[in-house]
Amino acid sequence: MPEIIFADPALPTSGALVLPIGEEETPSGIWQQADEATAGAIGRALAVAEFTGKKGQSTTILAPGAGLSRVVAVGLGKAAERSRLSVEEAGGAACSLLAREPAAAIAADRLEPALAAAIAHGAMLRSYRFDRYRTQEKPEETPRLAQLTVLASDIVATRTAYAPMRALSEGAFLTRDLVSEPANVLTPAEFAERCRALARFGLTIEVFGPEEMRTLGFGALLGVAQGSVNEPRMVVLQWRGAPSPRSDEKPLAFIGKGVTFDTGGISIKPAAGMEDMKWDMAGAGTVTGLMSTLAARQAPVNAVGLLGLVENMPSGSAQRPGDVVKTASGQTVEVLNTDAEGRLVLADVLWYCQNRFDPRFMIDLATLTGAIIVSLGHEQAGLFSNDDALAEKLLKAGEATGERVWRMPLGESYDKQLKSDIADMKNITGRPGSSITAAQFLQRFVNGKAWAHLDIAGVAWATKESSLVPKGATAFGVRLLDRLVAENYEN
Ligand code: BES
Ligand code: MN
Ligand code: ZN
Repeated sequence: MPEIIFADPALPTSGALVLPIGEEETPSGIWQQADEATAGAIGRALAVAEFTGKKGQSTTILAPGAGLSRVVAVGLGKAAERSRLSVEEAGGAACSLLAREPAAAIAADRLEPALAAAIAHGAMLRSYRFDRYRTQEKPEETPRLAQLTVLASDIVATRTAYAPMRALSEGAFLTRDLVSEPANVLTPAEFAERCRALARFGLTIEVFGPEEMRTLGFGALLGVAQGSVNEPRMVVLQWRGAPSPRSDEKPLAFIGKGVTFDTGGISIKPAAGMEDMKWDMAGAGTVTGLMSTLAARQAPVNAVGLLGLVENMPSGSAQRPGDVVKTASGQTVEVLNTDAEGRLVLADVLWYCQNRFDPRFMIDLATLTGAIIVSLGHEQAGLFSNDDALAEKLLKAGEATGERVWRMPLGESYDKQLKSDIADMKNITGRPGSSITAAQFLQRFVNGKAWAHLDIAGVAWATKESSLVPKGATAFGVRLLDRLVAENYEN
C-alpha cells in the first residue's frame, strides 16, 4: 500500500502521472503543462484512444516524453454528476493501472480539496493486497507502487480532508486482513488478541471467555462452540467520543457474527467450497474495522462493537441436531440444523448488547444465509429492520458509498414459521424465504430496540475485482457504517 504525500501543483519530471479529466473539459493546470512538455503527445494519444473523460473510462500513455514513464488518464464524467464516490472510483481505476510504477503523482490541482483527497482515498482502497503468506514471489509479480503524491492547489485543506479517509482505509484494511486470514491462524482467541491491540486508538476492550459466557447464560453461543478445541470469545469494543454536553449519551451498537470457521458442525457442509467458510467471521471483522475507524478519526460519537467469536466444528463434543439450548434471554431453541449457527451466536450477543448498553440502535452484520446470495447476488447486502428511519439512513449511506443494501421484508407470517414442537423456537425453517426467517429469528432477541440486520453473505468476499476493491475480502460495511455514523449521529 503506497504512502500518500501532498505537494503543491508542479509538473513531475519523472515517474507516472495520473490525469483525472472530466467530460467537456479543456486542458489547464498540470494537464496543460504535461501536454505542452510532451509537445502535444498526451492530447494526440487521448484523441486516438477516443478518451472523452466519461465516467469509468481510462487510458494509459506510455513514455510520452518530458521524463514521464506513463500518463494514466481517468474519466471523471460530467461535472454536474460528480460525487465523492465517482471520484474515488476514478482513483481506484488509476491505481490498478499503476502497479508496476514505484512512484506516481495525481494531478488533483483542478479538484476541490475534498475531491482531491477522495481520489487518493480511492487509489488507496484499491491498492490493498494480502501478501502475508507469499514468501517466494518474484519481484516482477509484486506491485511496486510505494509513493503516491497528490498534487493539490490547497495542500492544507486537502490533507485535512484526507485525515478521516486515512482512518477509514486503515480500518477497512484491518477488516480485510482479518477476513483474509486462514482459520488455523485466526481462531477466536487470536481474533480477540488482535482486538486488544486497538487499545492504542483509545478503544476500551473487554474479552469474555467460556466461563464468563456460562455465567451470562450464553447457552446458544456455547452450544455452537462446544464442538471445537478452539475456545469461543466475546469481544466488547467501546468508543466514547461524544463531546459534552452529550458525552454520556447512549451508544450506537454494532454486532458482528464471528464464526472463524463454519464446517456446518454435525450438519456438515459439502467439501466443495467449504474453504470459503474461513470468512464466516466477516461481520465481526467489519465491526472491528469500523470501531477502529471511528476511534482513529476521533469520531464525536459514542459507539460499541460486540463480536461473537466461535468455531463451528463437528466432533465428539459437538452439539447434535435436535439439541435444545437456552439463550441468554431465557428463550429456548431447538437446534434442528447445526449449520444455522450464526443466528445462535447472535441471539446471545444481541440480547447481551441491548441489556447492558440500552443502545440507540443495534446493527448486526452477518454472513448469515446462502439464500441472500440467491436473492441479491453479489451486488447488494440484504437489509432487514424493525425501524423505517434507520433503514432509510442505511439505504442512503449505501447509495453514497456504493456499499448498497436492499431492504427485505419482515412480518408475523415469517416469524411463525419458527415455531418448534418442543422449545420456544427452532433454528431453521423451510428453504422458501430463509434469509427472512433467519432475520425473524434474530428479531426475537432485540427486545423491541431499533435494529437492523445486514446479511452480507453475498458481498463479504469478491471473486472479481471492482474499482475500489481487489479480489478477496471486501470489508463491505466499513465504509457504509462509517458514513451512516458521520452523516447522522455526530452532532
Ligand atoms: N455461514 C453460512 C452462510 C453462508 C453461505 C455464508 C454461503 C456465505 C456463503 C451459514 O452459517 C449457513 O450455513 N447457513 C445455512 C442455513 C441453513 C442451514 C438454514 C445456509 O444458508 O444454507
Ligand atoms: Mn452455517
Ligand atoms: Zn455460518
